[in-house]
Amino acid sequence: MGDKNQTYDMLLKLVKTRMSVRKFRPDPIPEDTINKILEVARWAMSGANSQPWEFVIVTDPKIKKELRDAYSEYNTDFIFWMEQQREYNLRHPSYQVKNDPHESLRFNKAKANWHQAPAVIVVLGDGRRQWGTVMGAHTFGRDQSHLTDGLANASFLIHLAVASLGLTSEWVSIHVEEPHKRVLGVPDLLKLYLIIPIGYPDVPAHEGVRRPLENIVHRDRYDMSKYMSNEDVIKYLYSLREATVPIHSASRAVTADEKK
Ligand SMILES: Cc1cc2nc3c(=O)[nH]c(=O)nc-3n(C[C@H](O)[C@H](O)[C@H](O)COP(=O)(O)O)c2cc1C
Repeated sequence: MGDKNQTYDMLLKLVKTRMSVRKFRPDPIPEDTINKILEVARWAMSGANSQPWEFVIVTDPKIKKELRDAYSEYNTDFIFWMEQQREYNLRHPSYQVKNDPHESLRFNKAKANWHQAPAVIVVLGDGRRQWGTVMGAHTFGRDQSHLTDGLANASFLIHLAVASLGLTSEWVSIHVEEPHKRVLGVPDLLKLYLIIPIGYPDVPAHEGVRRPLENIVHRDRYDMSKYMSNEDVIKYLYSLREATVPIHSASRAVTADEKK
């Protein structure tokens, strides 16, 4: 019993202290660290245990830079202009920029420095392995869901394993896969799901923000008093941004002056 509580306490501490970091020191990480991290990821859950994941470990500075440049050129540009459609305070924290948009875009592209992390794990998925899962998962637009659910599980285990080893990581979403696939020579049929830079943080530790348990848990049936109207959701997003914009800046070491 005591042991079980201890395991739970360790897990809770781990998930609460894990944090996304967006500025890394270049210091190398121990040789066997990546294998330890991926050994954990290998045990992720997946539909019908079809294990769609594969990983590319990138430590060559030239290839890391090519990946980052592909990211800035395609993903950052694409996301930046989409975010400009939204009201300033509702934009993603990275894209709340007040000055000339072209200048801000240049700043944003240059700011992404995850290629300086000593290692970058690229998570790939082979959708054909999902042929092992139930046929119902291949209908009505569900064809990608079991693939990406499995990849998300493996990816989160990577983030947890990283934190358990005293390191930090970032979840770099890939919205436009192709340029990164070209850099790495990934076959067309595979999905390039995620980029995870790992290393030592170049920013101080900060506390995370999560919704309180009582707001998200229902007993026996859905409690309509907790249901948010569309308007409530927008209000929630404003309050969320208020709480998370400073954290996001701290994780990238962006000063208030730089954002102006
Ligand atoms: C689906 C998903 C997409 C995310 N996309 C990005 C991203 O593109 N860039 C980034 O720096 N962080 C990204 N994150 C990290 C979140 O911003 C972060 O997990 C969240 O703000 C909570 O902060 P924490 O990880 O420090 O607890 C993503 C996380 C998830 C699960």
